[in-house]
Amino acid sequence: MTQDASAPPDKRELLEQLEAAGQQHVLTFWEELSSDRQRALAADLTAIDMAEINRLFRGQGGDDDWAALAERAQPPPAFRLGGDDEEFSLEQAHERGRAALAEGQVGVVLVAGGQGTRLGFDHPKGMFSVGPVSGASLFQILIEGVVAVARTYGKSVPLYLMTSHATHEATIAFLDEHDRFGLPQEDLHVFQQGTMPAVDAETGKLLLAEKGRLFVSPDGHGGMLAAFNRSGAMADVEARGIRQLFYLQIDNPLTCVCDEALIGYHVKSGSQLSTQVVAKQHPTDRVGNVVSIDGQVRIIEYSDLPAAIATQTNDDGSLRLWAGNTAVHVFDTDFLRRMSGEAAGLPFHLARKKVPYVDASGQLIRPESPNAIKFERFIFDLLPSARQAIAVEIDRQKAYAPVKNAPGSNDSTPAAAQAQMVALHTEWLRAAGVEVHAQVDDGVAIEISPLYARHADEVSGRVAVGTRITEATYLGSPT
Ligand code: UD1
Repeated sequence: MTQDASAPPDKRELLEQLEAAGQQHVLTFWEELSSDRQRALAADLTAIDMAEINRLFRGQGGDDDWAALAERAQPPPAFRLGGDDEEFSLEQAHERGRAALAEGQVGVVLVAGGQGTRLGFDHPKGMFSVGPVSGASLFQILIEGVVAVARTYGKSVPLYLMTSHATHEATIAFLDEHDRFGLPQEDLHVFQQGTMPAVDAETGKLLLAEKGRLFVSPDGHGGMLAAFNRSGAMADVEARGIRQLFYLQIDNPLTCVCDEALIGYHVKSGSQLSTQVVAKQHPTDRVGNVVSIDGQVRIIEYSDLPAAIATQTNDDGSLRLWAGNTAVHVFDTDFLRRMSGEAAGLPFHLARKKVPYVDASGQLIRPESPNAIKFERFIFDLLPSARQAIAVEIDRQKAYAPVKNAPGSNDSTPAAAQAQMVALHTEWLRAAGVEVHAQVDDGVAIEISPLYARHADEVSGRVAVGTRITEATYLGSPT
């Protein structure tokens, strides 16, 4: 839609454009709005591609036919744990990853624009306290991971942090309050993703959050592709000579930021976009399925993979489609730059959600069941465009403990993530010859900050063999 944003909004002109798209109901309360709110609403409407919304609602240009694609899905090209017939070893991959980091070629992208509704936490998820002893937030743990990499390799590691309209201001305030958890100001680039309106699931009509405001939500982590360019982050990456971007989500405190092996496998195999995966525990494990379809790597969400295919097994009983997406990736920056020119080409995925809205009589309705369709782009839809995309398996217990669901849920709860952190860090200490006398179930928790150690072998350089730990212990930044 077009309108001059500086001029007072012309209702007739707006109405004409809206009528052409069948969306004129959004001006129902126009006369009740102050001129500022009219201006804001007109600007929001102008930014929306109405034809695209209508097309998506009619099922054009949106989701693929996943059931048909899944029929042709094969396991992806992958480096498996313990695989011994690979072109190069884990140690060689590690070494290559270390070299890339020592050359200062790596930056980090952390996506934190989601609203974390399932966790039932009313702030950006990154502010959620998860450290079993320290109470550290997800932001603290992951940003300390970035700081630790920079210290280990003596190079600055820029962090490109994606927020959304829903998380931006609170995130900035939180990071300021905590001095960015030690990350230098010049190495933190916060950028905001875009939004998409939601439509009524039956009629395709745009929904109003208030009489003068459309309901919008973040446009999915795929929104990163356009926002990264728009915000100047891509220009910064180029100016710094960054060649790989390590991409992670805000919800997994066990992510080994800049995992050397993943970066090394990526570089050595000439991949443009690599994905860290875990072996699925059962057919309906709630992870995306990393697969290969007609020679292209793709991710099929758990909700889109038909049960008859998810349950297929190999002769030894293992799952045929075994690779679960941890949502940790490595991108070649050249590839990302090239693809950002085609950001509008990333498909939208449609999801039915509960969305409160103002009805025709001006009442705010809070639906009991999903009433709306939201549109989101997924960054991993870049996979089919990538040359040599690979998957790299990691041990779930050591690297994947996502915090997704509210306490008391069946899986991916804060308590489950904490128990996994304690178990891993206890194992690291024991391997270094420390006597750890109790486990978290006895009320004794162990927690290691990435500033203390990112890997098990870094612990032994820091503690004396025979050290006894009998009480809750947090090993933070070494003094
Ligand atoms: C996601 C993956 C799934 C993977 C799992 C691993 C998708 C669609 N699925 O599932 O394949 O196995 O993680 O944990 O991503 N985000 C934004 N902006 C948005 C939406 C999300 O920044 O508009 C961020 C969130 O803050 C979060 C991440 O993306 O860090 C994941 O989003 P979420 O919707 O929770 O994905 P999952 O369903 O958990």
